[in-house]
Amino acid sequence: MAHISSKAPWLTFTCGMSVGFIVMYLISYTWLENNHIFQDPIHSWKRFKPAQFQVFPDTIHAHTKANTSVADNLFNRVRVLCWIMTGPKNLQTKAIHLKYSWTRHCNMVLFMSSVHNESFPTVGLDTEEGRSHLYWKTIRAFQYVHKHYFDKADWFLKADDDTYVILDNLRWLLSNYSPDQPIYFGKRFKPFIKQGYMSGGAGYVLSKESVNRFVVGIRTGTCLHTSSVEDLALGQCMEKMGVVAGDSRDSQERETFHPFTPGSHLYRISRDSWYWSYNFYPAVDGPQCCSDLAISFHYVDPDLMYILEYFTYHLRPYGYKYRYQPSLPENAHRFLDINRKTNL
Ligand SMILES: *[C@@H]1O[C@H](CO)[C@@H](O)[C@H](O)[C@H]1NC(C)=O
Ligand SMILES: *[C@@H]1O[C@H](CO)[C@@H](O)[C@H](O)[C@H]1NC(C)=O
Repeated sequence: MAHISSKAPWLTFTCGMSVGFIVMYLISYTWLENNHIFQDPIHSWKRFKPAQFQVFPDTIHAHTKANTSVADNLFNRVRVLCWIMTGPKNLQTKAIHLKYSWTRHCNMVLFMSSVHNESFPTVGLDTEEGRSHLYWKTIRAFQYVHKHYFDKADWFLKADDDTYVILDNLRWLLSNYSPDQPIYFGKRFKPFIKQGYMSGGAGYVLSKESVNRFVVGIRTGTCLHTSSVEDLALGQCMEKMGVVAGDSRDSQERETFHPFTPGSHLYRISRDSWYWSYNFYPAVDGPQCCSDLAISFHYVDPDLMYILEYFTYHLRPYGYKYRYQPSLPENAHRFLDINRKTNL
């Protein structure tokens, strides 16, 4: 047959390969889709579909043999509700990556937006978007949480949609305190307020009592919308309402909440940066920047978010089984007691 040129075998081969590839893809996809691995809430890789997340499919591996009993115990006893400051434009580009990375470790998570979105889902706070409306969002968010979920948690964490938080380390810090104390934690800045205030980007966490005081402060007019700078305004209200700005540094005085990426803190922060005069405690960059039990980092883009998730929950050096972990504080045992509610 004259019209079959010498290229035909290649054409056949290429078509065959393509069809084969597509069929295999569909089969394996359907198989994976129905595989139990995807039902595992901690490793639901399936949900990464909409993201540009194709970097390490081995996240589907679960550490079923890891002994996480201490962390599991803290999960049940130090309940943290996380609420994420986000907006309609950020859902698919930022918020979704929090949804499928660190926020899975919260006891409860709420994505706070200006408008309600049933499918994401987000809570609609009925505010406007933009920097100047951030404090209104925070006010409404805490009012919402106070009204609907106050009994569901002991501590209430606010984070941005580019903050990365290690909940297990946050619970370790919080286990030293009671949710009944008027106290809040975060990356402590020095200026403008006597006791300082907590950086918004690094995330901050309010005890149950602090949330109550915040809501009361707004309701009674003791706290006004003093500034559109969200973290500063919240800090002013906290001080007025007698909520203590807590020290979240570890026993070696290394910081746990971080307003920049791990890279910035570990490498070098520009000597001209506002950062140096804002720190409440002596500021350090380089190898001593960050606690081994670090809690948060900021300006984390989606790629770094999955990298941090991998570094935190998967990567480890071989042979360090008995790596030092501080024991739980004495008073944590009070909270760890099954009969905690009646003991308080
Ligand atoms: C897991 O760790 C806890 C606390 O260290 C220990 O009491 C428990 O026996 C361990 N469980 C297993 C199955 O090794
Ligand atoms: C709601 O969120 C989904 C993503 O979960 C998005 O595709 C959709 O466009 C959003 N709807 C609105 C009205 O913003």
